[in-house]
Amino acid sequence: MKAIRAERRGRPEVLAKVDLPMPEIDDHAVLVRLHAIGVNYADVMCREAAHPSMQPPPIVVGCEGAGIVEACGAAVRDHQPGDRVGIYSPFGGAYAEWISVPAHYALPLPATMSFEDGAAFTHVYLTAYHALRTLGRAQVGDRLFISAAAGGLGTAILQLAKAWSMEAIAGVGSDEKRSFLAGLGVEHVVNYRREDVASRLAEITAGQGPDLVIETVGGELFETLQRALAPLGRLVTVGVAGGIEPRPDVGTLLSKSAVYAALNLSVIFARKRELIPPSWRDLCDLYMKGTLQPVIGHRFRLDEAAAAHELLESRRSTGKILLFP
Ligand SMILES: NC(=O)c1ccc[n+]([C@@H]2O[C@H](COP(=O)([O-])OP(=O)(O)OC[C@H]3O[C@@H](n4cnc5c(N)ncnc54)[C@H](OP(=O)(O)O)[C@@H]3O)[C@@H](O)[C@H]2O)c1
Repeated sequence: MKAIRAERRGRPEVLAKVDLPMPEIDDHAVLVRLHAIGVNYADVMCREAAHPSMQPPPIVVGCEGAGIVEACGAAVRDHQPGDRVGIYSPFGGAYAEWISVPAHYALPLPATMSFEDGAAFTHVYLTAYHALRTLGRAQVGDRLFISAAAGGLGTAILQLAKAWSMEAIAGVGSDEKRSFLAGLGVEHVVNYRREDVASRLAEITAGQGPDLVIETVGGELFETLQRALAPLGRLVTVGVAGGIEPRPDVGTLLSKSAVYAALNLSVIFARKRELIPPSWRDLCDLYMKGTLQPVIGHRFRLDEAAAAHELLESRRSTGKILLFP
């Protein structure tokens, strides 16, 4: 089968098209023929050997996609050949025509969900859900700040926040992204590369600060947001796209009686798997009602994966980037 492998640690040009044997399945796994594949910032970190849960290159990159179950291991009860599924693979392997994953990492797609939507939805909306609800303890009426809000995960969080009656404040790194989100009807947008985030947050929240922050950039932005939290606020790290590790500060958190948490979805799949089916049902219900709809910004062929990575790292992408085998 055709696949894209990061041959060594490095820039996008280390992504090479390779021919590999078909993946094997053990008794508890399913073999899925992928019809659409998501490009996640985690794939960039995997390529750069900077992802804590993925083995360093050489590795077939990719952690999400959607397709059809073609074969099931002897012990698999919840799937059968022909099922349409979305997959999450924290082990990599998704930039390929076929992938094998443990059966509970393959989730049934609603009949009305396309493979495109499935690839953009499965991993990303589960991440958004567990960041907001499981770690962030999201409440109706919370004032929520989201960094990189125009991206794949950011747009998913904005939609869930609206569905759950929260007041969203979107943080972005350019005025083009501000206009993009304004076009999607987002009222409060802060450009954190140009504006004073602390004073804009104080203005929007009448001096209180955000009750909940979902943070994916790190560095200076993280520190500003930590200081800006409302009393009893919650700050959840979900990523570090800016490359500078966040530094939660006990003194600052104590001064707000605030909570800090860090999400790793792979831990929920591996160690708290009972949380996945109910969250997946909630998300699929909201999708079928039309409340959630992945924002797909860019489409590439699988063999254009390097160009897709260039785009994601350039900070010029909006919404989700997909690859097609
Ligand atoms: N914890 C988990 O289990 C989990 C699961 C999935 C994804 N994630 C994380 O969630 C985040 C979002 O992923 P995504 O795939 O949806 O990506 P994305 O948000 O579509 O794209 C990444 C965005 O990060 C921002 N960014 C800030 N500094 C950057 C830099 N130096 N280089 C590149 N981008 C930078 C950019 O937005 P602005 O220009 O607007 O700042 C960029 O568009 C990533 O950090 C990813 O690792 C975590």
